[in-house]
Amino acid sequence: MQIQQNMEGALTARDRVGIQDFVLLDETTEEAFMNNLQKRFSNDLIYTYIGTLLVSLNPYKELDIYNQKQMDIYMGVNFFELPPHIYALADNAYHTMLTEYNNHFILISGESGAGKTEASKKILQYYAVSCPSTTLLNTVRDKMLMSNPVLEAFGNAKTLKNDNSSRFGKYMDIQFDSQGDAVGGHILNYLLEKSRVVHQNHGERNFHIFYQLVEGAGDDLLQRLGLERDCQLYKYLTQGECAIVPSINDRNDWKTVKNALQVININESDNNDLFSIVASVLHLGNLKFSPDGKGLATLSSSSEELRWVSNLLGVEAQKLHEGFTFRKIEAKNDQILSPFTIDHAIYARDALAKAIYGQTFTWLVNRINESMENTDPSRKTVIGLLDIYGFEVFYVNSFEQFCINYCNEKLQQLFIQLTLKAEQEEYEAEGIEWEPVQFFNNKIICDLVEEKHRGIIAILDEECLRPGEATDLTFLERLEDKMANHPHFVTHKLADKMTRKTLERGDFRLLHYAGEVTYCVVGFLDKNNDLLYRNIKDLMCQSKNAIIQECFLTSDSENRKRPETVATQFKSSLLKLTEILMAKEAWYIRCLKSNESKEKGSFFSYSHNNVHVQKIKLHTIIFTGQFDEALIRHQVKYLGLMEHLRVRRAGFAYRRRYDVFLQRYKPLCPATWPHWRGDPAEGVEVLVQHLGYLPNEYKMGRNKIFIRHPRTLYATEDAFEKCKHELATRLQAKYRGYRAKGEFKKQKEAATKIETCWRGVQARKERQKRAWAVKVIKQFIKGYMTRGQAKSTDNSEYLAFVRQHFLSRLKENLPKTVLDKTSWYSPPPVCSETSEILRKLHYRILVRKYVRGITPQRKAQLQLKLVASTLFKGKKESYPQSVAQPFVDTRLNEQDINPRVIQMIRNEHIKYSVPVIKYDRNGFKPRPRQMILTQTAAYLVEEAKIKQRVLYTSLKGISVSSLTDGIVAFHITCEDPKQKGDLVMQCDYLFEFLTKLSIIANKHNAIKVVQGSIKTEVQAGKEGGVDFSIGQEPMVYKGKNGHLMVVTTRTRTR
Ligand SMILES: Nc1ncnc2c1ncn2[C@@H]1O[C@H](COP(=O)(O)OP(=O)(O)O)[C@@H](O)[C@H]1O
Ligand SMILES: [Mg+2]
Repeated sequence: MQIQQNMEGALTARDRVGIQDFVLLDETTEEAFMNNLQKRFSNDLIYTYIGTLLVSLNPYKELDIYNQKQMDIYMGVNFFELPPHIYALADNAYHTMLTEYNNHFILISGESGAGKTEASKKILQYYAVSCPSTTLLNTVRDKMLMSNPVLEAFGNAKTLKNDNSSRFGKYMDIQFDSQGDAVGGHILNYLLEKSRVVHQNHGERNFHIFYQLVEGAGDDLLQRLGLERDCQLYKYLTQGECAIVPSINDRNDWKTVKNALQVININESDNNDLFSIVASVLHLGNLKFSPDGKGLATLSSSSEELRWVSNLLGVEAQKLHEGFTFRKIEAKNDQILSPFTIDHAIYARDALAKAIYGQTFTWLVNRINESMENTDPSRKTVIGLLDIYGFEVFYVNSFEQFCINYCNEKLQQLFIQLTLKAEQEEYEAEGIEWEPVQFFNNKIICDLVEEKHRGIIAILDEECLRPGEATDLTFLERLEDKMANHPHFVTHKLADKMTRKTLERGDFRLLHYAGEVTYCVVGFLDKNNDLLYRNIKDLMCQSKNAIIQECFLTSDSENRKRPETVATQFKSSLLKLTEILMAKEAWYIRCLKSNESKEKGSFFSYSHNNVHVQKIKLHTIIFTGQFDEALIRHQVKYLGLMEHLRVRRAGFAYRRRYDVFLQRYKPLCPATWPHWRGDPAEGVEVLVQHLGYLPNEYKMGRNKIFIRHPRTLYATEDAFEKCKHELATRLQAKYRGYRAKGEFKKQKEAATKIETCWRGVQARKERQKRAWAVKVIKQFIKGYMTRGQAKSTDNSEYLAFVRQHFLSRLKENLPKTVLDKTSWYSPPPVCSETSEILRKLHYRILVRKYVRGITPQRKAQLQLKLVASTLFKGKKESYPQSVAQPFVDTRLNEQDINPRVIQMIRNEHIKYSVPVIKYDRNGFKPRPRQMILTQTAAYLVEEAKIKQRVLYTSLKGISVSSLTDGIVAFHITCEDPKQKGDLVMQCDYLFEFLTKLSIIANKHNAIKVVQGSIKTEVQAGKEGGVDFSIGQEPMVYKGKNGHLMVVTTRTRTR
């Protein structure tokens, strides 16, 4: 930033020399103008403004004002804030294009050598650096930049005026997208000076490319093309006698061109074809003809050159030869070959050379256009750059100069139209107070050249087309007839005495806006016709060279219609150009030559024998070569710069229709923002009042506002820029809100949609499920109804279901214990068999589990209980209640038994003992006793006394009742009367006691359960008994029949 300020400071200090804008001069005299120009020029300040027009004075030396730093300084800065520069103009055009979104063009004018081409290159370079860039755009940019060296090589040449003079007109559109990126380009080319290919004036050269090829190409290429590295060997290169000039480095330029060709997508094969053509032209130039006996042309040089031409152009040598020496005349159905004179042969040769070179040039331009073409169809704005050949005057001026100078007349006309005439007319139309500025309108000269039927071009065409012997001189005569009194036209015949001295008989002179030019009519007709003999044209159509093939289309050749003449084509192309330019906003660069010698400092000297130059020389002897005042003054005059200045000074820098102005700047005033409902003019008035415009700074016209100084507008524009950002933020916020709302709505809609879809999906699923369920239920019912039948498709599923259902229910309801024999889940009929198998299985498993789970003690217990059950189950009423009572090993412990008794039966192992009540045999008196079972006998013990010993062997039966009492009778064998009889006892642990006894004594079969009564033997032979009955209360007593009466209740007593 600091650096930039310093630089700007430095620039400004230097720039205090003179005045930056002629509009600010104190007086608008030519003297003051020239003074200012010179002052600035002597300080290397070559640029000065007239308003927004840039005057550029060619310094003929490299100035350090085109570097990156300078570009940076000028980027995006308002026009008048910095010293005048071509970058300022370029930048301003660019930014106006972006803000106003319209098309522009920069008209660069000035005479040959004034610096137009350099200016256009500087502008292109500036855009290449200053515009935003991307890789893609860079390639477009490279192509735009690189198109220059290629076109210059093929279309520029050294002339007396300029070592790099453009010999074609060029209008280039640079296309920008809305971001300001350069996205494409297009070139229109205008009339190439083809005659230069075959002829150059003294001190001039052919097109650069020829010298570049010969000097720069590698040996192998030269060899392939049949060329040698020596320009002097080629006729077409040496007529000007200056093939090699120190200011031009052909060898380096060759490298640049080769590289540039690559950038613009010219591939290897195109390259070959291209240079084959260039080389063929050189060979053509060396074809020499000599007269045969009858003066007719024969090819005199060895046929070597011809072979090279035929080789390089890919055509038959024989036919080519024929083309140069014979003309094909078609008479009805016949073709007659008419031999050529030498002049004709040379004409045919040169015509071919010019034609192929000219067509190749057009081909190149087309290829460049293809490579720069913008493929994005969105709307583009363009900046057009017009760099066309400048006004030029030579010692001998021919058809080419006529065209070039006519072109410059047209551009001058356009300039006058847009800046002087239209501007002043506008002030009048708008009712702005205005003092008209007089200016020379060159329309009269344009008309002289181009008017229909009456203009020079029309007469030239007439002469070209009319039957009979038309020559350049008859053309001149026709001109003299028609233009006799025209103030801008003079010939030897028409001139007064004085003037006549300066004119040859074959000349005509035009008083151009930029000065008089004498044209020599020789060659006008031929050049205007630009005819190529038919047979040669046909031959070119058969060429094997791809470029020639593309350029010479058979269809064109067969078209018998006479093509438009060169001048007419040129005229219409200029007309089209004018239309193109008129549709755009104009920016002007007026280039001035500072001297004629292309010199920087030395004294003016000139060596060429040139009328114009001689005239100037008279003035310039006085001045140094650097600032040739007369020359410059002359240019200032004819370019109309003074008039432009006057109009600018009195006029207004800027004007806009009220509605447009209001539309753009209305945000700057609360009264006009966002809408001004009333008359736009009033709105603008309110707006500028609000902005504080002073009365002398603007004028209100009928439809437009006129602003005098650019600075006023720039201030407004700056304010607008600032305001725009604020507005943008506001708009952005609004827009974001709007977007968010939209987004929300969209999302909501989407959600509803998804919901609906999802519901649909669910509903369809549900329906399917129901349909399925109905089917299943139907199947189920059918299955149920046919469940009893044999398995069929109807019931198989149902049965499977029943089976499965049963099994899973069964699984949950299996009996948990072995004892549970009732809760087995009852099976459906189909599963009854399975159920039974499973039930058994399950019990076995439960049993096994149970068995594995019990202790040995419990096992013994159960074994005892089993025995008890076999003995009493279902026989004795009190049995069921006893089952749950566990058996014990003994009811009496050893301590309970008298030791004496134990002593007595010591030898027998006591197995079991239990307290009993023994009933006497006769009285049935109950007596408590102990019953002790040993291995061999049962002992009835009273205290220490063994009352009775019953050997098991003598125990023949044991009886109990079927009721609930605890009475037991031992039936004892009684052969011995001394022995006591049967034993009747009552035992509370009857089942335990008897079970033990049956096991110990092995008396299973001896135990009987009897109904009603037990018979006993009281003594041997004496019977007794026990009678059992059921009563209210349990009782035991002696009955009347002498039996023991035992009464039990249904409930068990113990
Ligand atoms: N801005 C410049 N700075 C330095 N030299 C310049 C400048 N403009 C032109 N020249 C010199 O003048 C010569 C002719 O310029 P050119 O642009 O080819 O002229 P024109 O196209 O108008 O015939 C260039 O070769 C160059 O030497
Ligand atoms: Mg030029």
